[in-house]
Amino acid sequence: MSDRERMRELARRGGHAKAAKLRAARGQLEPLGGTIRELAAALGAFQEPSWARWWAFLGALFALPLEAGEREAFRRFTGRDAPPAAPTGEAWVIAGRRAGKSRIAALVAAYLAACRDYRAVLSPGERGVVMALAADRAQARVILGYVKALFAHPTLAPLVARRLRDSVELRTGVAVEVHTASYRSTRGYTAVGAVLDEIAFWPTDESANPDAEILAAVRPAMATVPGAVLLAISTPYAPRGELYRAWERHYGRAESDVLVWRAASRDMNPGLSAGVVARAYEDDPAAAAAEYGAEFRRDVQAFLDAEAVRAVTVPGRRELAPQRSVAYVAFADPSGGSADSFTLAIAHVAGGRAVLDVVRERRPPFSPDDVVREYAEVLAAYGLARVTGDRYGGTWPAERFQVHGIRYEPSALPKSDLYRALLPLVNAGRVELLDDRRLGAQLAGLERRVARGGRDSVDHPPGGRDDRANAAAGALVLAAPARAPFLFGSGGSYRLDRDEEPRVEEPDPADALDADALRRAGGVWFPGEAWPTAGEPVERGRFTGDPRPPLEPPKDPDADGGP
Ligand SMILES: Nc1ncnc2c1ncn2[C@@H]1O[C@H](COP(=O)(O)OP(=O)(O)O)[C@@H](O)[C@H]1O
Ligand SMILES: [Mg+2]
Repeated sequence: MSDRERMRELARRGGHAKAAKLRAARGQLEPLGGTIRELAAALGAFQEPSWARWWAFLGALFALPLEAGEREAFRRFTGRDAPPAAPTGEAWVIAGRRAGKSRIAALVAAYLAACRDYRAVLSPGERGVVMALAADRAQARVILGYVKALFAHPTLAPLVARRLRDSVELRTGVAVEVHTASYRSTRGYTAVGAVLDEIAFWPTDESANPDAEILAAVRPAMATVPGAVLLAISTPYAPRGELYRAWERHYGRAESDVLVWRAASRDMNPGLSAGVVARAYEDDPAAAAAEYGAEFRRDVQAFLDAEAVRAVTVPGRRELAPQRSVAYVAFADPSGGSADSFTLAIAHVAGGRAVLDVVRERRPPFSPDDVVREYAEVLAAYGLARVTGDRYGGTWPAERFQVHGIRYEPSALPKSDLYRALLPLVNAGRVELLDDRRLGAQLAGLERRVARGGRDSVDHPPGGRDDRANAAAGALVLAAPARAPFLFGSGGSYRLDRDEEPRVEEPDPADALDADALRRAGGVWFPGEAWPTAGEPVERGRFTGDPRPPLEPPKDPDADGGP
């Protein structure tokens, strides 16, 4: 095909292409111009009726004229009467899985990069970036695939200067970059647009509030760019984080300059099989209501407040060296070395507080034997010949630690109960944490999931980790001072000295704790004053218990703490 023929071919596919090609040939780096509708039409994409709801959204976002049906969709999914008269700088879409979120995010990114003119705001040589941020590598690959497919179309291809692994650079001086959500990667750009995919699922591993931090970095980077668009788009999850905040503050608010659109998967993508959705609701209604119904999960709540965790973190304290004549306790969260980290924490009591001395983590891959040897040395340095640990993996941790003369005792308390026991200690300021970013983020990221009709659980969020938090919680709860007993099941903590009247509170059924498990773990149990089972209120009465040191579990459970 000759150049002339190629030009004609491009012209047939849309005026955009020809113009772009001519400009490129002449070295002019002009953006395509036009509306997002025109771009999609030129690309021959998103034209099927199944995309109609998305066109209502995009029309509202860019203040394009809406048809009657689109206005109706606007009202239904934004809770607002009239679409904004001017383009919106910030929009949030809360929609279910397979709703088409990532494809639309890619289209918006391509449009912002290829069609808008930023030459007035970019200095010569300065590159404007449309950031596309995804929850993880897999999601980033999905978006990158969608973006690259759009730029492979003859309408856009002539604009492409370079295709790199994670980005497409255009001759207009703008690039689309796709990354996983990480605070560092958003620094130092002039952002002409940002699409934030699955923002409710950004990993809280390195930072407790990655969504808030990235928004705080992206917003000023876009502030100098007229017409810059921030589009956050996600399946909802727990009622926390920036997605929830946006929904609370801006959904259904006519006066708001932030657009919030919420719709179930099948409302946005009618092609999605009704059977798939119905089966999901049968399997797990709470999960399906979020994943396909776009409702925030009321059964998932934040567990520890990030502020409370910060308050008990000793700034600058990385690790405490072993001291003579201090009794330490240790807790390990072993792993086989292929998927999860193997962590170890050491703590002691001082001044009525449980003090964290050490948190070690080995990330996979590793040889479990090597890590056990290393940790055995650490334990020995702190005068420890035993370590309590997760029940993970049956007997191998005990056998391997035994080789080094360390007794490994499976924890009587499951992980959820360790976290529940840690909660009042943190909230009452009765622990000292190391200044460890990942530990702090993991603790603040923990969430409580209320099982229907069952015990709640405390764990890391989907895709998150809690290896450090688990080891630290184990050691701190083991170390928790006996004279400042913690009562389980209260969600608070009480200093109960002898003859003091315990506070009377309605128990939270979700907080019920297995009294036997608590005893086996050497926790402190106050018959009559705490609630052994869900739903029984605490009786007001004199405190007559005799708390035992947590490190010495009672031989006879029934003799524990009785009057
Ligand atoms: N409204 C729609 N009409 C037609 N196909 C759709 C629609 N929404 C989504 N799809 C298709 O469903 C799949 C999932 O889309 P994607 O954007 O990755 O969903 P999400 O990010 O919301 O999970 C893609 O193959 C996409 O083309
Ligand atoms: Mg997606």
